[in-house]
Amino acid sequence: MSILNETYTLANGIEIPKLGLGTWFIDDALAAQAVRDAIEIGYRNIDTAQAYGNEHGVGEGVRTSGVARGDLFVSTKLAAEIKDYDAAVAAIDGSLATLGLDYIDLMLIHSPQPWDDFRGGDYADGNRAAWRALEEAYRAGKLRSIGVSNFREADLANIAEGAGVVPHVNQVLAHVGNTPSELIAHCAEQGILVEAYSPIAHGAMLKNPEVAALADTYGVSVPQLCIRYTLQLGTVSLPKTANPDHMRSNAQVDFEISAADMATLEGMKAADYGDYSAFPVFAGK
Ligand SMILES: NC(=O)c1ccc[n+]([C@@H]2O[C@H](COP(=O)([O-])OP(=O)(O)OC[C@H]3O[C@@H](n4cnc5c(N)ncnc54)[C@H](OP(=O)(O)O)[C@@H]3O)[C@@H](O)[C@H]2O)c1
Repeated sequence: MSILNETYTLANGIEIPKLGLGTWFIDDALAAQAVRDAIEIGYRNIDTAQAYGNEHGVGEGVRTSGVARGDLFVSTKLAAEIKDYDAAVAAIDGSLATLGLDYIDLMLIHSPQPWDDFRGGDYADGNRAAWRALEEAYRAGKLRSIGVSNFREADLANIAEGAGVVPHVNQVLAHVGNTPSELIAHCAEQGILVEAYSPIAHGAMLKNPEVAALADTYGVSVPQLCIRYTLQLGTVSLPKTANPDHMRSNAQVDFEISAADMATLEGMKAADYGDYSAFPVFAGK
């Protein structure tokens, strides 16, 4: 069976495909074709965000893919800067309108802090307010599941206060060279599925000779090894590409990394994102 047909089950019983397509940096004008290509290849899980500026194109790709809406899993994210209830309610409806969809399969709070203050000040009240808006949209059937992104244990504990729904998902930076093992274990204990974003380290792993040498021993590419690694951690893997050849090869991960090699990869510390280090998510805070 192809990884494209494999799913995890969220705490509320909703199935989520294990491999998804990341769409950060896919221009809105190109996103519809990228999404159609991915769906044609067999992808059923598409990840976007308000901040990516491509919800319109992603939604168009979903709607014109020829695959039934119910067979697709579409995620988006509430902008990190939105930390009040009314703005969150409006933004959730905004995503539905921009995507042109009747419902969203998963919506996440993009970050516990606005990007210009990432890992900075206290947004506890704002996150609880945003969470309340997500919970209400979930209960109204606009969102089939809800979650968070870039949340650490304290951020999770904060929204648990007074919340009716435990986040179904926490989407975090997780790749060979940067594995948040304790957070992944904590989420597993809470019944929160972890999604690994930037599984190829935003492309940085392509230049890593140690990882390339290990990939060679399995007869696979660096992206295939990196994607397989995140899947064996028990996370959803979200590699980004608009290139159909890369989409195809990224889904060919039908091999098993040995326990010893998993331990080696988990122990690696390699998180130099080059020109992209300035992005808050890669700033290492
Ligand atoms: N929640 C958050 O805060 C957050 C933050 C970052 C990312 N994300 C999500 O995670 C997704 C993935 O992360 P990412 O975009 O940072 O990076 P990534 O998926 O780790 O790496 C993407 C890079 O790898 C290249 N690539 C992919 N497959 C390849 C292949 N088979 N051969 C050669 N090169 C390949 C891509 O180039 P080509 O395009 O040329 O294939 C691109 O340069 C994002 O798109 C987004 O959906 C979420």
